[in-house]
Amino acid sequence: MAAVRSAAISAAAVVAPRGFGRRRRLVPCFAAPARGASGVTASASGKMLPRSALHASASTTGAPDSDEAAAESLVEAELSKLACPICYYPLVSSIDHQSAPSKSDSTLECSTCKKLFSKDDYWDLTVAVGSTEYSETMPAATELFRTQLVSFLYERGWRQNFIWGGFPGLEKEFEMAKDYLKPKSGGIIIDASCGSGLFSRLFVKSELYCLVVALDFSENMLKQCKEFIKQENISDERLVLVRADISRLPFVSGSIDALHAGAAIHCWPSPACAVAEISRVLRPGGVFVGSTFIADVLPPVIPLLRIGRPYIDQITGNNTFLSELELEDLCSACGLVNFTFVRNGFYIMFSATKAS
Ligand SMILES: C[S@@+](CC[C@H](N)C(=O)[O-])C[C@H]1O[C@@H](n2cnc3c(N)ncnc32)[C@H](O)[C@@H]1O
Repeated sequence: MAAVRSAAISAAAVVAPRGFGRRRRLVPCFAAPARGASGVTASASGKMLPRSALHASASTTGAPDSDEAAAESLVEAELSKLACPICYYPLVSSIDHQSAPSKSDSTLECSTCKKLFSKDDYWDLTVAVGSTEYSETMPAATELFRTQLVSFLYERGWRQNFIWGGFPGLEKEFEMAKDYLKPKSGGIIIDASCGSGLFSRLFVKSELYCLVVALDFSENMLKQCKEFIKQENISDERLVLVRADISRLPFVSGSIDALHAGAAIHCWPSPACAVAEISRVLRPGGVFVGSTFIADVLPPVIPLLRIGRPYIDQITGNNTFLSELELEDLCSACGLVNFTFVRNGFYIMFSATKAS
């Protein structure tokens, strides 16, 4: 297994048929901002100072008020990016509209339509939350991951099997994603379709972001994520769990620095609507990093896929895997530029940037 893994990793470093030398960009320049996008302090190493450090530094200068204010503005910044999935206007605390929302509040309200959203293990920011009669079934690839069984098995063997499709393995994938995301250190990152939060937890532990949003449509995946966070004793100071549909992201437009979506696009009901949403929520210059299984490993498959896909999709209710060209085309159609990628077998990790 180890041999397969290292072979896959070294192959990933060299296999980029169309883009090799032209678009492959694994090590972008790193310029850690002195200040995070939300006004949160970053250390010289680019790591975010924990809230306790903010307290410590403020108290040594004898300025408890500014310490309080820093902690307050951190909390405020964390929740101020959340928006109503219906109106896209910011959510406010439903307890006291005059004061900044507090992370401990368990109800948020849309500032325009007044819909309420509550938090248990996670914020449920799906459009139909609260409806009593209406229910709808998503395509199979979405529903599968909502089951308790698959959510439980996911990090206990299921995900590890992706290595046979060319996925380099969690550690290597995380390092590759981190390289693409380096210019966004200090900012807010969404780990979209996070599953049980395997990458979200690594993003938090890296201390490179002022806020990590672990987002998924599956209630059971989010519960697993919450359990792993407890088990691993990870601080949730800079972590928010959100239930949402990727095609209806509950964030203010242009408010997010980076979005990572590992092994997910092939599960989304409409990759086009999803990428359009990703583009909407990213700030100009914001980075989208995704990985998925790719369809064009054997070039003769492409014309066959073109003909057969509508029928396969109609029968299965899923989107079959896209080709590298289709991914690039989709990103570009949604206003994301500088498409770069690394491929290995059926695996692709790619990055694109919101046009400035
Ligand atoms: C194969 S898992 C990937 C999990 C993790 N990101 C990883 O790298 O292993 C795909 C995830 O996509 C999520 N998903 C499927 N449809 C979705 C949708 N419409 N909106 C948000 N997430 C969705 C599933 O719940 C599942 O957790």
